[in-house]
Amino acid sequence: MTTSTKLLPVHKRFDITFSHGEGVYLYSKDKKYLDFGAGIAVNALGHCHPKMVEAITNQANKLWHVSNIYNINELNNYAEKLVDNTFADYAFFCNSGAESIECAIKMMRRYFYTHNQPHKYRIITFTGAFHGRTMATISAAAKKKYLEGFEPALPGFDNVEYGNIEAVRNAIDENTAGILIEPIQGEEGIKVSTKEFISQLRELATEKGLLLAFDEVQCGMGRLGHLFAYEYYGVKPDIISTAKAIAGGFPLGACLATKEAASGMTLGVHGTTYGGNPLAMAVAESVLDVMLEAEFMNNVNQVAKELKSGLQDLEMKYFDIIKEVRGVGLMLGIRIDDKIENTEFVKKLIENGLLTIPAGDNVVRILPPLIITSKHVNEALDKIEKSVLAFR
Ligand SMILES: Cc1ncc(COP(=O)(O)O)c(C=O)c1O
Repeated sequence: MTTSTKLLPVHKRFDITFSHGEGVYLYSKDKKYLDFGAGIAVNALGHCHPKMVEAITNQANKLWHVSNIYNINELNNYAEKLVDNTFADYAFFCNSGAESIECAIKMMRRYFYTHNQPHKYRIITFTGAFHGRTMATISAAAKKKYLEGFEPALPGFDNVEYGNIEAVRNAIDENTAGILIEPIQGEEGIKVSTKEFISQLRELATEKGLLLAFDEVQCGMGRLGHLFAYEYYGVKPDIISTAKAIAGGFPLGACLATKEAASGMTLGVHGTTYGGNPLAMAVAESVLDVMLEAEFMNNVNQVAKELKSGLQDLEMKYFDIIKEVRGVGLMLGIRIDDKIENTEFVKKLIENGLLTIPAGDNVVRILPPLIITSKHVNEALDKIEKSVLAFR
C-alpha cells in the first residue's frame, strides 16, 4: 500500500513496505533486506530479538502503565542499572530524543537559576547540529531549513562552527550556561569530532564554570563500541541525552546527569506522563542486559573494524563514486560523488536488498544493528559493490 493521504505529509518515504523483521533482516511481501539502517540507529539488537520479545510479553501481561505519581519498580531497577554503568548520578526518562534534549536544556538553565545566576541561560551549539524537531531543539540547532516558517526561534542559543575551539571560546560571555554538542553529527553526514576537540570543550567548560552536555541520541547506546560515546572520547560530560537504541525500538529517551549538574531539577520542575513507564523500562532493561554481556562490545568493535576496512577497500577501488568513508564503530558513512544523489544511491542499495539511511553532505549512513556478524558485513559489502557498479 502506498502512503495514506490522511497522514500529515511531512515525511519523505521510500516506496517500500515491510511485513516483518527477524534479526538483521527485514521482509517485504516478496523480498528480504539486510537492514543496515536499523530504523536510524534504533534497532540495536535487530528486529524481534528474543530477549526483548520475552521482556515485552511478560511485562504486557503484568503492567503497562502507571503514573509517575506512584513508585514504579521497573523504573527504579532500570535507573539503578543504567546509572551505575555511567558517569552520572541521576536519570530522567522521557519518550524521544528531542525530549531528552529538552531536559538537558532545561537542566542547564535551571542550574544557574538555582545558583543565583539567572542571567546565565545561553547555550553554545554547533553548525550542522541536529537535536530534534521541537521548538527548543530546532532553535538550538539553528538550521535554517528546519526553522523556516517556525520563527521566532526560542532565544538563548549561540551557534558556532563545529570543531572550532576558538569560536567556542569567543562565544562565551557572562550569559553562557553551557555547551551542547553531538560528538558525532549523524544527520549532517557522520561528521566526527576529534578527541582533541572534545577534550578542549571539557577543559574550557570546567575553566569557565559551564555545563557540558552531549547529545548521544544517535551516537550513544553501544553504537561507537562503548555503552556511551563519551567513553570513546575519554571525556566525562555533565549531562547526556540519549534515546533511539536505548529500548531498541520502543519509544524511550533518557537524560543522565551528575548530581551537581542536576541540582536545579527539584520537585515539580519537570515531568512527563509516559516517561519511564513499566513497559518501556522492561524493554530497555532487556536491551541493556544484552549490551552489558561480556562479549557484546568486543563484537561491535570487531565487526566495525571489518566493515570500515571493507568500505575503505571499496573507496580505493571505486574512488570515482565513493569519495570518503567516515565514522566510528558502527556509525559509518560513505560520501557519494556529487554526480549521484545519495538518495538515488540508497534506492539502488534497496533494489539490491540493503537498507541504509541518507544524510547531509551526500552521505549514505551505515548504521547496522549492533548484533551483526562478519557474514552480514560481507553480504553488505557485496551489495554496496554491486550498487556502485550499476552507476559506472
Ligand atoms: C543527534 C540527534 N539528536 C536528537 C534527535 C531527535 O530524536 P527524536 O527523533 O527521537 O526526537 C535525533 C534524531 O534523529 C538525533 O539524531
